[in-house]
Amino acid sequence: MKVQYFAASSLDGFIATEDDSLEWLFALGELDNSSYPTFIQNVGTLVMGSATYEWMLNHAEQVAAETGSAWPYTQPTWVFSSRKLPLIEGADIHFVQGEITPVYSEIQSIIEDKNIWIVGGGELAGQFYDANLLDELIIQIGSVTLAKGKALFPRRALAPTLKLISVHQMGEGMAELHYSVERSTAI
Ligand SMILES: NC(=O)c1ccc[n+]([C@@H]2O[C@H](COP(=O)([O-])OP(=O)(O)OC[C@H]3O[C@@H](n4cnc5c(N)ncnc54)[C@H](OP(=O)(O)O)[C@@H]3O)[C@@H](O)[C@H]2O)c1
Repeated sequence: MKVQYFAASSLDGFIATEDDSLEWLFALGELDNSSYPTFIQNVGTLVMGSATYEWMLNHAEQVAAETGSAWPYTQPTWVFSSRKLPLIEGADIHFVQGEITPVYSEIQSIIEDKNIWIVGGGELAGQFYDANLLDELIIQIGSVTLAKGKALFPRRALAPTLKLISVHQMGEGMAELHYSVERSTAI
């Protein structure tokens, strides 16, 4: 079982604009040209922060029009939030807060050998990294810059922490970088 942060970023390291828009991303190309179709087959659960979940809530009609469902995932999903948020119909959601490690243990006991997808945002992926629980980054770098926005991964991961496994060009709009994350043996 691996913990994988799979996300798309601007060239200057943002996964959304300051006001949580992803319009810049949708203009870049099809996710089907990425490793997503293979990746999602091995995902046992999704993990996300509340801003990412609220994006799904606020764009339910758009998501349903594009995928046939306001919640296009069959896997159970853990949403980190200190607030009470509405449920999306048809979604198997577990609301949690606080430390990462106990939540990870709870997920691990349920999903057996499948992977955990950290959908976003970057700070939550960083919390998994801080807890020494992040195994891979799979990042589609878009051919755009945003100057400001929500950070891809607001942590300092110096060499040799990240090891580049593969690079895949997705036309002119994106390149997918796949990294393994060296877990610290000190913890
Ligand atoms: N480009 C991409 O591939 C991609 C991927 C994913 C997301 N996105 C977008 O990027 C943006 C991400 O927003 P974001 O950076 O603000 O991140 P986020 O992780 O989605 O949301 C952050 C919020 O989650 C809650 N949270 C995080 N860790 C917590 C913890 N341990 N315990 C309790 N609550 C916790 C906190 O809010 P509360 O406690 O107030 O609820 C925190 O402010 C969204 O617009 C999303 O749609 C883009």
